[in-house]
Amino acid sequence: MGTSTTIRSRAITPLSGREVLDVDLRAPLDAAGIAQLESIWHETGTILLRGQSISEEEQVRFAGYFGEPAMRLLNRHDGTSKGHPGVMFISNIRENGQLIGALPDGEMMFHSDQCYVERPAMASMLYAIEIPSKGGNTLFGNMYAAYEALPAATKARLTGLRAMNIYDYGANPTQRGAPTADAQQHAHPVVRTHPGTGRKALYVNRLMTDSIVGMPRAESDALLAQLFDHLENPAWIYEHVWQVGDLLMWDNRCTVHARSDFDASERRLLRRCTVLGDVPAE
Ligand code: SIN
Repeated sequence: MGTSTTIRSRAITPLSGREVLDVDLRAPLDAAGIAQLESIWHETGTILLRGQSISEEEQVRFAGYFGEPAMRLLNRHDGTSKGHPGVMFISNIRENGQLIGALPDGEMMFHSDQCYVERPAMASMLYAIEIPSKGGNTLFGNMYAAYEALPAATKARLTGLRAMNIYDYGANPTQRGAPTADAQQHAHPVVRTHPGTGRKALYVNRLMTDSIVGMPRAESDALLAQLFDHLENPAWIYEHVWQVGDLLMWDNRCTVHARSDFDASERRLLRRCTVLGDVPAE
């Protein structure tokens, strides 16, 4: 990709997601190409590149354009993924009775990756290798749009609030449950400011956000229930129906994502990379 090339993109839905055209990730991108991609990504927090055919190394190289790729050993939810330490697999496939990846089965609630640690992943990406004939779609919500649509009184109420995020529910990692005794947890602002765009985004989610710090439990539960319903409004959700060869990257600082159910007897295999992030700031 030469410096004079303009990368074309088009909206997938008005608020959530842009498809990037004419980029083949087998070839390295130059600085100008990376800057253009980042700027397209910053518009909605989700970019899709279809028709890719990339190796583990090429996917990790792509992740490295946006920050430092996370190595698998840092992540305790990596299942039994093998291969390059910068990738993990999301899969329901079992070999010799053993899962080859993480987050294997069924529907998954909305969440933002690693919001339960001090420095959550800034970006995550999935590359589709095998997909079921129906379902197993990944849904992305634009949390700038969700924040901006809140009434002024709610925005004022959220100012300065922090929420405790917890994750690890034992047997089922895709649905909210009772946290295990050693579940990781960390408090972050309920509204965070994206360091790259300066825009504010809602930063709570149904799978991992437990409570508003310092607020009585009943009041906290009621406020969070209202926010969860609001941020899952289809007005700013894009539901991605996977095709083999799709590479989709989302920005955990301004989006949430979830997964629809699929037939457990069908194979689903996606390769994931994440990019290390900063401590979220209000
Ligand atoms: C994830 O949350 O990283 C997995 C999403 C999916 O399986 O579609």
